[in-house]
Amino acid sequence: MLGSRAQGGWRALRRCSSLPRVVRLRVREALGAREAADAVRVQGWVRSVRSQKEVLFLHINDGSSLEHLQVVANPSLENRDLTFGSAVEVQGKLVKSPHRKQNMELQAETIRVVGPCDIWSFPLKMKERHPLEYVRQFPHLRCRNNTLGSLLRIRSEATAAIHSFFQDNGYVHIHTPIITSNDCEGAGELFQIGASSEVRESAEKTHFFNVPAFLTVSGQLHLEVMAGAFTHVFTFGPTFRAENSQSRRHLAEFYMVEAELSFTESLQDIMQVMEDLFKTVTSTVLSKCPRDVELFHKYVAPTQKDRLEQILKNKFVTISYSEAVEILKQASQTFTFKPEWGCDLQTEHEKYLVKHCGEVPVFVINYPYDLKPFYMRDNEDGPQHTVAAVDLLVPGIGELCGGSLREERLPFLESRLQRLGLTDAYQWYLDLRKFGSVPHGGFGMGFERYLQYILGVDNIKDVIPFPRFSHSCLL
Ligand code: 4AD
Ligand code: MG
Repeated sequence: MLGSRAQGGWRALRRCSSLPRVVRLRVREALGAREAADAVRVQGWVRSVRSQKEVLFLHINDGSSLEHLQVVANPSLENRDLTFGSAVEVQGKLVKSPHRKQNMELQAETIRVVGPCDIWSFPLKMKERHPLEYVRQFPHLRCRNNTLGSLLRIRSEATAAIHSFFQDNGYVHIHTPIITSNDCEGAGELFQIGASSEVRESAEKTHFFNVPAFLTVSGQLHLEVMAGAFTHVFTFGPTFRAENSQSRRHLAEFYMVEAELSFTESLQDIMQVMEDLFKTVTSTVLSKCPRDVELFHKYVAPTQKDRLEQILKNKFVTISYSEAVEILKQASQTFTFKPEWGCDLQTEHEKYLVKHCGEVPVFVINYPYDLKPFYMRDNEDGPQHTVAAVDLLVPGIGELCGGSLREERLPFLESRLQRLGLTDAYQWYLDLRKFGSVPHGGFGMGFERYLQYILGVDNIKDVIPFPRFSHSCLL
């Protein structure tokens, strides 16, 4: 990809010999170029300036790669504004570099400082490896740091890989609504919304949408509607939960990938899609952003590379919820929450289970009926009554994906909704079971937790473009 893009630039150069001859290249294209060129322009931000008696060295970066382009210039081109952090436009000759570590370098003929940078107040410092906690304080500037730069390029590739995975497998992408009146998960972790005038005149209690409206906690129910026409559908969008935003693995706003499959009777089919999605996207990211991933595997989580390679080769482990509770009960470790059949698995339990299974991803299936949302399919298996649910647990994180078969049988769903007092609100959902209902199921994967896991990042706030509620209120 790199070579072909760069070649595009060269072809343009040859074709347009009568036009102005200067070719504008991204840093990535310049670094990957196969031939030297006389008139090249590169724009970016200065990552280092080193002035020697006879030569001036600059490193510039424009976000297209982790590697910087070395610019070699006559010291007469130096000026007061040419500092670390300034935005520059450099024009000159692209030549083979004599240095072993880089392919090409730019011999500058002109250097124009487009935007100066006050290095004394700029919080990033030249050649310093700033800790993630430090740069988190500067949400508006941290993308100019190597680690966040790599993270955001990986995030972009992973997003594209997720879309390709589903498109290549015949899924239709659906934009599910962000404003909705359903609480899919029934956990009450909703952000209610209204017009700002409603907040001011709250005494009148009018709703902008006539009904209470919330930011979506999941696109699943809307996907189920679409799975009833397109068979295989997916969505990948922002999701909101009003839960503890101080935790290392929870965000108030996060991205969720969700898929829904019709004509699916087996939970194993859903689990296979989860596993294939994880492995395909991870392999793509590893092959498309090797240098960016390497930065994390070198400086952030040194053992993660080997573990990930092992995980990609082996099949994920599956245990039932009941087996999981037995494993926990027999553990020598004492837990804050005593493991008991019928109780939710806590993070400490999830981490123990993953460790017990050899620090690999683990599917836990068939959870207690009373623990799970109304839409999950009844396994009709008393006395320990379960539903066909699955959670995928991964080392260091806990739950990465949650999914289930959906209750497609009208009488089962009707009686469950009735018991919960939700029949009126979910008439439309019951309709889906009246008009051509089919066995179906699906799952959701937290995108930030996925990135956290593959890169070995401890805090979820370090895998999002803008950490909210940090020191800066601007963003
Ligand atoms: O397990 P959850 O709640 O499942 C659902 O919402 C289903 N309706 C999805 C479906 O079947 N279509 O959420 C799915 C995943 C979790 O496993 C977790 O990775 C992530 O979403 N997640 C969060 N990620 C970051 N911050 C939060 N507050 C999250 N809550 C859930
Ligand atoms: Mg869940």
